Amino acid sequence: MKRTPPSAQIESGRLPTHVAMIMDGNGRWAAVRGKERLVGHRAGVDSVLRVVDWCREASIGYLTLYAFSTENWRRSAHEVSGLMRLMGLMLRTKVGLLRKRNVRLRVVGRRTDLSAALQRSIAAAERDTADGTGLQLILAISYGGRAEIAEAARRFACDVRDGKAEAEALSDDAFRRYLYAPDVPDPDLVIRTSGEFRLSNFLLWQCAYAELWVTPVLWPDFSKADLQAALAAYAARDRRMGGRRA
Ligand code: IPE
Ligand code: IPE
Ligand code: MG
Repeated sequence: MKRTPPSAQIESGRLPTHVAMIMDGNGRWAAVRGKERLVGHRAGVDSVLRVVDWCREASIGYLTLYAFSTENWRRSAHEVSGLMRLMGLMLRTKVGLLRKRNVRLRVVGRRTDLSAALQRSIAAAERDTADGTGLQLILAISYGGRAEIAEAARRFACDVRDGKAEAEALSDDAFRRYLYAPDVPDPDLVIRTSGEFRLSNFLLWQCAYAELWVTPVLWPDFSKADLQAALAAYAARDRRMGGRRA
């Protein structure tokens, strides 16, 4: 992999507007320390809060974090309930901090999968940060790209049935309006930690032209220098979007 030194000057015009992160490697981080997986997830939450600050400093507009996938329900009941507890705790205890930092928090995913208490914490955190005009932080919880597309198709079909939309008029842009957060621009850069080269059902529609960056670093160890390295690599990429070089 060609590495651009983090010290490379990043012109603001070459900064991604939207960075999406697949926060992977918490379990392995705990395993190398001889600890149970939830210890890694707890360290992962601290990493989230640091990354939010670094993205604000870097003037990133949108940060989407993949916190729990539709497939993660297959994990042990102990791990799933621990993760749910951690997410609820984070939403309840860090919302003041996010507000102070002018962050607007939103959640995408299949909310009805979540407990009523967690759904309430999400709604409260979204409401309490709704007037944030700085970084938009989007947490993907019980999120699956296929589920999002299937849900959008289902809602479109219902609109056609109810005479609110025309099947023949459906375009890419019209379909986008049925996704979870249609006003959020597509991710420019996807960062995956822990060295896996896959999307794992993350933002399948939105990542059509995203630049991908994979680092072997485990999520709890993800540092400011790692983020800067990813941003520098992004700045050096030639995004042709299917067109020809100028
Ligand atoms: C990422 O860490 C967090 C979630 C998927 C919830 P993992 O739990 O997947 O960690 P590894 O991949 O087992 O190391
Ligand atoms: C992707 O990580 C999901 C999240 C980071 C929330 P996984 O650990 O679940 O992905 P796989 O199983 O390695 O593809
Ligand atoms: Mg993993």
